[in-house]
Amino acid sequence: MKVLVTGGAGYIGSHTILELLRAGHEVFACDNYCNSSPEALRRVRRLANADFGEADVDVRDASRLGKVMTEFSPDAVIHFAGLKAVAASEKVPLEYYDNNVLGTLRLLEAMDSTHCQRIVFSSSATVYGEPKYLPYDEAHPLNPANTYGRTKLVAEQVIADWCAATAGASAALLRYFNPVGAHSSGEIGEDPNGTPDNLMPFVAQVAVGRRPHLNVFGNDYDTRDGTGERDYIHVVDLARAHVAAIELISESTGCEAVNIGTGTAFSVMDMVRGFEAASSRPIPVQFVERRDGDLASYYADASKARELLGWRAELGLKEICGSTWNWQSRNPNGYA
Ligand code: NAD
Ligand code: UFG
Repeated sequence: MKVLVTGGAGYIGSHTILELLRAGHEVFACDNYCNSSPEALRRVRRLANADFGEADVDVRDASRLGKVMTEFSPDAVIHFAGLKAVAASEKVPLEYYDNNVLGTLRLLEAMDSTHCQRIVFSSSATVYGEPKYLPYDEAHPLNPANTYGRTKLVAEQVIADWCAATAGASAALLRYFNPVGAHSSGEIGEDPNGTPDNLMPFVAQVAVGRRPHLNVFGNDYDTRDGTGERDYIHVVDLARAHVAAIELISESTGCEAVNIGTGTAFSVMDMVRGFEAASSRPIPVQFVERRDGDLASYYADASKARELLGWRAELGLKEICGSTWNWQSRNPNGYA
């Protein structure tokens, strides 16, 4: 299939393009590089030993996006482009609605005008909010506790309404749990701007000597060891879930939300110990106050992904920590 990938130079987009190429799909990547580097796509080409089209396009720019869509004429789109920092979304909510919601609207309009009716959307487990029960299944009430999560929920609803109104359309709303890890080559990985908000890139920067210690946000949660628990999903498993979702939407119509997680929760300290073992480096920690808005624990019911996509996570904590360390130690300053 011909697959247009928005946000293709980003962390999850770059890993997904590699898996799409390996599965024999033709790819075109669009990105405005607001949170990524074109170097990631150069490395994907090298790893895949294959070429693909690429354009510097903001998905909200209807005329440039329309031109790219008309020329490439995709069978399906994977929509990664968006902003993802929870704390920033509280400070600049309009930027988040503009990028995540308006960007999705503009993309669907461009799809309509080029008769493309298939989309895979990057959603997030954050759409569920405070757990009423665990694991979260896809029927869990949707009540995001932050602006970022609300932009994802609105975008999901826009796509569902578009899908219902468009004969023959199909959409997969993939609700990612916590994406972590890197490609086993160590050539592509997560390269956040400035101080990382997320646990694993922060831990990796401590191990490589860029930061003195990890602040652990709270050790008094009602969890096994008192620190927060999450369902960490290896980015290569996540990338493969997109290949499976592309296959699903090519054969079906309608809109499906699907959790993409492992079904297992690890604590902050499990991740720290895993990383120490993988890197043979100590990760000094300081226990500090809980971070505003953090939940104690959540993880996925991943059974729908198994049934609908025929996909399950195959990589565990060892591969997550080992690949993150391989990426960070080979690229201490990321793509810079
Ligand atoms: P990322 O920032 O690495 O990738 C997003 C890419 O989109 C970047 O390359 C960025 O430059 C590009 N982009 C942003 N706005 C754009 C626009 N208007 N036009 C064109 N390109 C634009 O983030 P990621 O971790 O790869 O996340 C990809 C998607 O998955 C995002 O939509 C994010 O919200 C979602 N998601 C991520 C996580 C996570 O923890 N990483 C969890 C759940 C959902
Ligand atoms: N944590 C620390 N110290 C840090 C960073 C994080 O102790 O420096 C802890 C957090 O308190 C939490 C855990 O590590 O218990 C994971 O935190 P992350 O920031 O890595 O991830 P979140 O679960 O907060 O959120 C992530 C993404 C969201 C996405 C969500 C989906 O940042 O965009 O997963 O589940 F929506």
